[in-house]
Amino acid sequence: MDVIDLDEKLGHFSDHWSPRIIAALNGQEVKLAKFIGAFDWHSHPDEDEMFLVLHGSFTMEFRKSFGAPDEYGYRSVELHEGQMLVVPKGVEHRPVAEEECAVMLFEPAGLVNTGDAETSDRTTTGTWI
Ligand code: NI
Repeated sequence: MDVIDLDEKLGHFSDHWSPRIIAALNGQEVKLAKFIGAFDWHSHPDEDEMFLVLHGSFTMEFRKSFGAPDEYGYRSVELHEGQMLVVPKGVEHRPVAEEECAVMLFEPAGLVNTGDAETSDRTTTGTWI
C-alpha cells in the first residue's frame, strides 16, 4: 500500500496518447496520460470513461448528444485543471488539446483507448509504470 505521487509518475513518460496504469481496484484501472493535438474519434460500447485534468486543459468533442456546437459544428466541453468528465458508454468522442495536458483516467481494466475505432498506432490498453 504505497503512496502514489502523480507528478512523480508523470515524470516517467513524455509521449502522448499512451496511457500508463498506476493503480487497479475493483476491476477498474487508474491511468495517467498526456494529450496534445487531436485523438482518434471513437466510442466504448460497454464502458464509461472518466477524465480528470491534472495539468493544463483540453476539449472533449462529441459528434452528438452533448454540449453546444462549436465553429466546426462539433459539440464539445472544455475541461480545465481540477475538472473532470465521465463520457458515457456508446458516446462517440475525441479529446483535443491545443497545448500539452496531463489527465487521469479511470475506467475498466483492459479498456482499449481507441474503443470501437479502427486500430491505429496509438491503440493501447495501457502499460504499468
Ligand atoms: Ni475514449
